[in-house]
Amino acid sequence: MTRLRMGMIGGGLGSFVGPVHRIAAEMDREIELVAGCFSSDAGRSRAAGESYRIDPARAYPTLDAMFAGETARSDGIDFVSIVSPNHHHLPAARAALAAGVPVISDKPATATLDEARELAECVRTVGLPYGLTHTYSGYPLVREARARVGAGMLGTIRKVVVEYPQGWLAGEAVGKQAEWRTDPARSGPGGCIGDIGTHAFQLAEFVTGRKVVELLADLAAVVPGRAVDDDCTVLLRYDNGARGVLLASQIEVGEMNGLRIRIYGDKGGLLWRQEVPNTLMLHSLDGRTEIVHAGGSQLGPDAASRTRTPTGHPEGYLEAFANIYRDFAAVLRGEPAPFLPGIDDALRGMAFIDTAVRASRDKAGWVPLTV
Ligand SMILES: NC(=O)c1ccc[n+]([C@@H]2O[C@H](COP(=O)([O-])OP(=O)(O)OC[C@H]3O[C@@H](n4cnc5c(N)ncnc54)[C@H](O)[C@@H]3O)[C@@H](O)[C@H]2O)c1
Repeated sequence: MTRLRMGMIGGGLGSFVGPVHRIAAEMDREIELVAGCFSSDAGRSRAAGESYRIDPARAYPTLDAMFAGETARSDGIDFVSIVSPNHHHLPAARAALAAGVPVISDKPATATLDEARELAECVRTVGLPYGLTHTYSGYPLVREARARVGAGMLGTIRKVVVEYPQGWLAGEAVGKQAEWRTDPARSGPGGCIGDIGTHAFQLAEFVTGRKVVELLADLAAVVPGRAVDDDCTVLLRYDNGARGVLLASQIEVGEMNGLRIRIYGDKGGLLWRQEVPNTLMLHSLDGRTEIVHAGGSQLGPDAASRTRTPTGHPEGYLEAFANIYRDFAAVLRGEPAPFLPGIDDALRGMAFIDTAVRASRDKAGWVPLTV
């Protein structure tokens, strides 16, 4: 089997998530990074290419140069991975799709809902694969949680509590990652709600299999002078009548990446925590709690096939990302990958951000969530 050739957009020197994508994409030896436009600065793109040890001729100064260069080669890229800041996702995806190149993009899909609609139209018109790296849906025990909820082990879902606390923006926004995330021109109108709230929203819908139909949002820019929200409280109503609470914050001092989800049905409950990702707690009505371990023999087929290390040997973020890439590689090979987030998730995520921002700003109370 030949490896799929990946181009990267963004992910330059000192970037957060570009190197993570590189490691994850290559983990299963199905994909190889061969080209990129890693920065808006030609010299920095070249330097990043060197650090990734790709052919220097394939570290391009612009998107146009990359797509012209790669489409002219017999061994040109099979897809691109977009890991630039949010405002650059749409132009990057549009350029790729116009060149006939499939796209996997980091979240949020775009900076605004209008852009996401344009992207969706573009994806549907061109008919090429589009994947969205909602990393947390790639964790084996998140897949197991979804399978167990789907099999009815919790009964009818009544309550969802999803929290995503971070503390790294509790003070002044210092550094590359903080600067663009707190600039609405580059992050989009949502700050924290777009950066991590959208992960929490997608995780809750992914595990429950239920859709949010209404929300009530209170988003605050707590740090003085901040132009986007940094602390979010959102109440949710699901399509089956279940109630939900989504808390996302980047000003909770001491919190690192504390994403956790609790789901309660009429037969049981569950708990999964991103910082302890290799255990899943399942509670029964009779008071018993089962602890499911990653790598354990009790895992269903989806979670088992997405686990790489034996029980007790920790795995986490990189492997979860690799699972998303494995699913995307399957799609490129024409195989099914039903759990890969795609353009519908892209639209839902952007609709969630847009609705929450408007509802909070307008003090609108409960508002419908429509895509
Ligand atoms: N799924 C996850 O867990 C996760 C984690 C972190 C970030 N993200 C998302 O990934 C994206 C990148 O975030 P980050 O923290 O890595 O940002 P970053 O600031 O660390 O890196 C962004 C990179 O994009 C490059 N870039 C900017 N403009 C460009 C252009 N015009 N052409 C080419 N490259 C350009 C920058 O030079 C930089 O190397 C964001 O959309 C973010 O929301 C997702």
